[in-house]
Amino acid sequence: DWNMPDYVDEAVAKIREQVGSDHVILGLSGGVDSSVAAALIHKAVGDQLTCVFVDHGLLRLNEADQVMSTFAEHMGVKVIHVDATDDFMGKLDGVTDPEAKRKIIGKEFVEVFQREASKIDNAKWLAQGTIYPDVIESAGAKTGKAVSIKSHHNVGGLPETLNLKLLEPLRELFKDEVRKLGIALGLPTEMVYRHPFPGPGLGVRILGAVNKQFADWLREADAIFIDELRNTIDPDTNQSWYDLTSQAFAVFLPVKSVGVMGDGRTYEYVVALRAVQTSDFMTADWAPLPHQLLSKVSSRIINEVKGINRVVYDVSTKPPATIEWE
Ligand code: XMP
Repeated sequence: DWNMPDYVDEAVAKIREQVGSDHVILGLSGGVDSSVAAALIHKAVGDQLTCVFVDHGLLRLNEADQVMSTFAEHMGVKVIHVDATDDFMGKLDGVTDPEAKRKIIGKEFVEVFQREASKIDNAKWLAQGTIYPDVIESAGAKTGKAVSIKSHHNVGGLPETLNLKLLEPLRELFKDEVRKLGIALGLPTEMVYRHPFPGPGLGVRILGAVNKQFADWLREADAIFIDELRNTIDPDTNQSWYDLTSQAFAVFLPVKSVGVMGDGRTYEYVVALRAVQTSDFMTADWAPLPHQLLSKVSSRIINEVKGINRVVYDVSTKPPATIEWE
């Protein structure tokens, strides 16, 4: 266990020594690990760091703005914001198979990142937010989704293609230590304690073919769900339901069902709510959310999000279901 202020000083000194006067590139996703790595490296080498933030159009509501405001505006970090929504939507057009979607998103992500990174002059280092559990995981054999988790996270093959050396300042840390480090470096609590979000983003939460309209509706529904989870305090623990769940999100189902609204009949899409409690994400239980909370989320989504007229709650454990729907 580290004493954080000492750890910060040590880590900063080590990065300065490694990097010297070279330039560093980092792929910023808005997730905890890449954010903490960016804050730490920026503290160490300032403007010698350039972050590349690729927006695939499958991020959560206002996520790109939040990343830019935290890093570029507040911390003065150099961030290149690439809005690649149209590229990703074009490549995903009509693709329904979950694995095919993941592969397309991962491949496009690497291509966009590589294109931007190659424009940065005299970069010698590629920084990554690899943490200790990633190091152990990569050592073992992996199948199925785990492979894509890793390949997406680590932007596989990039250091070689770009001829860069790897800078991984979080390699010795566990997740809770990374969070403490993030707080010590002044990152906002909401960012440091945010639920995990998969690399392919809403691409695996819009079942089947992805399009911008579905992504927009899903973003709105998801924001309502998260907002109500944050605002509902459990009286027994005095914690919010956001903090009492390990991961919670909305899923867009491309299925239409009939409803009534005023005098009229509606025929619109379905949103499923997923909220789980888990310690390791390998197994998970669905969260026993209070009925009142579910009822409020449901009526808000149906009234506020055009295109949605039905909300269901996912009561499946992992296994046999997974946390994500794709
Ligand atoms: P599943 O759905 O397999 O998810 O129960 C377990 C955890 O992994 C996350 N996940 C991913 N994270 N890239 C990521 O970075 C991915 O491709 C990916 N797939 C799943 C998921 O959100 C959950 O936390």
